[in-house]
Amino acid sequence: GGAKHPRSGGFSFEGPFGTYDQGQLQRGYKVYKEVCASCHSMNLVHFRNLGDKHGPFWNPEYPNPNDNPVVKALAKESQVPDIDSETGEALMRDATTADKFPSPYPNATAAAAANGGAAPPDLSVMAKARHDGANYIYSLLSGYVTPPKGLKMTSAQHYNPYMAGDLTPFWEGEGHAPKGGFIAMPAPLREGQVTYDDGTKASVDQMAKDVAAFIAWTSEPKATERKQTGFGVLIFLVLFAGLTYASYRRIWKGVA
Ligand code: HEM
Repeated sequence: GGAKHPRSGGFSFEGPFGTYDQGQLQRGYKVYKEVCASCHSMNLVHFRNLGDKHGPFWNPEYPNPNDNPVVKALAKESQVPDIDSETGEALMRDATTADKFPSPYPNATAAAAANGGAAPPDLSVMAKARHDGANYIYSLLSGYVTPPKGLKMTSAQHYNPYMAGDLTPFWEGEGHAPKGGFIAMPAPLREGQVTYDDGTKASVDQMAKDVAAFIAWTSEPKATERKQTGFGVLIFLVLFAGLTYASYRRIWKGVA
């Protein structure tokens, strides 16, 4: 039983001084938009967030991301449901920077019905929802393998060594059941599935890494600022300790 320990995606944002790689976030957004968004929502993310500080399309020339022309154009590529203010009729219109990323299904029931009973979870904070989130998402997406012979499974199930689960009850092979679990999501990535704007080769490994980085950013968009603030606080504390010690020496100078 148990799942395989995630492989490392070698992410730039790990560690106390790590920051997001903007090119990687842009590539990850493309993978999310063109592949994952057909099944997964990201309800906590608005198009304007793409232009937030340290975000994928952040440009310091546009402190207000709603003015960022790249972000505006990206929003316009998506359609969102709305209601005609005059007739009250339901309609679809181009998204604006103020809109949330659109959901692929109207509700969880429809989402489950379209996916063999398992609704694809919202991905907004998925890197926080799973242990070692970014490495896990990277490993899961790039980790699909042919199921070991002797594993009893249905056509709606897919085997993934990184998925949580216990395959003992389904194991008819020799020895211990294989690590991993069944997942309702079929392997979503194929070689060359997206065309990256920066010319990066779209291998499964690359796309899995990039989209995992993008989800790490949506899960913790303020990570860079938090680390920078923390570093500033440490500098302050060191200087303040020095100052306090100097004052202490001075105040007690000559006192036996
Ligand atoms: C589950 C990511 C594409 C359908 C998941 C999970 C993640 C994920 C992290 C949660 C696994 C867990 O519970 O630990 C992604 C990413 C995608 C993608 C990053 C794009 C690269 C898709 C597509 C479909 C899909 C295209 C539909 C064809 C599902 C379903 C589940 C799921 C049905 C629930 C699985 C279960 O609970 O057994 N996905 N996914 N996903 N995904 Fe995706």
